[in-house]
Amino acid sequence: MTKVLEAEALHTFYGKSHILHGVTMEVREGEIVTLLGRNGAGKTTTLRSLVGLTHAREGAVRILGHATTDWPSYRIAGLGVGYVPEGRRIFANLTVEENLKVPVDRAGPWNIPRVYQLFPRLAERKSNKGRQLSGGEQEMLAIARALLLNPKILLLDEPSQGLAPIIVQDVFNVVVAMRKEGMSVLLVEQNVRAAVEIADRAYVLDDGKVVYEGPAAEFAQDEERVRALAGASAEKWEEVE
Ligand SMILES: Nc1ncnc2c1ncn2[C@@H]1O[C@H](COP(=O)(O)OP(=O)(O)OP(=O)(O)O)[C@@H](O)[C@H]1O
Ligand SMILES: [Mg+2]
Repeated sequence: MTKVLEAEALHTFYGKSHILHGVTMEVREGEIVTLLGRNGAGKTTTLRSLVGLTHAREGAVRILGHATTDWPSYRIAGLGVGYVPEGRRIFANLTVEENLKVPVDRAGPWNIPRVYQLFPRLAERKSNKGRQLSGGEQEMLAIARALLLNPKILLLDEPSQGLAPIIVQDVFNVVVAMRKEGMSVLLVEQNVRAAVEIADRAYVLDDGKVVYEGPAAEFAQDEERVRALAGASAEKWEEVE
């Protein structure tokens, strides 16, 4: 399968703090890859290095055949890379509909009516302001906005954070729907059980290093390893049953 995104031996720093210590990973066309790891493992930093927000000091990034290691983020976005950062940055003072009109419409399967079809909840609330939405609705809005850019690759940073289990399922169903459209998804998650259920492959980061890489189904079967490597607490496991 074609590789759409590759990171090779990335070393990323914040000032003098050396955060990523040689992270190598890849995403192939049409697959969901989950990037797991406990708090502070370097998941967000990996995404930031991939999308050009914090450039790797050593190593290489290749996206859709381009050597993008030092590209500014707008150029990487222009290749068709969508990024939904942690903490759902939506416009609190704009309505749902206005939020959706912010991205420049680009040709592709996703447009506002389709996004409303996918998230009926957003259609019902289209005249509500961003700040009136629940956490789950805000996450849906953040994802919907990224979809309107019709990305080929979508990077999601902890979309299930703070959501009730039933809403997590909704959000993850959407991720599966994206794969059906041929999109490739890199999904950072702390909700290990839910993520490995929908992912094709998994990577686990610890202290800025990849400590596991393999099929998500294989990883999912080894509960002890999941707990040890991804730092999933027992409560978290029950929560997503
Ligand atoms: N802007 C920054 N300046 C300095 N250090 C930072 C900065 N952002 C993150 N770090 C540090 O880098 C390390 C990795 O952080 P990162 O945000 O990538 O982790 P994470 O795996 O996404 O964690 P979480 O699950 O909590 O979101 C942490 O030790 C963190 O304290
Ligand atoms: Mg993070």
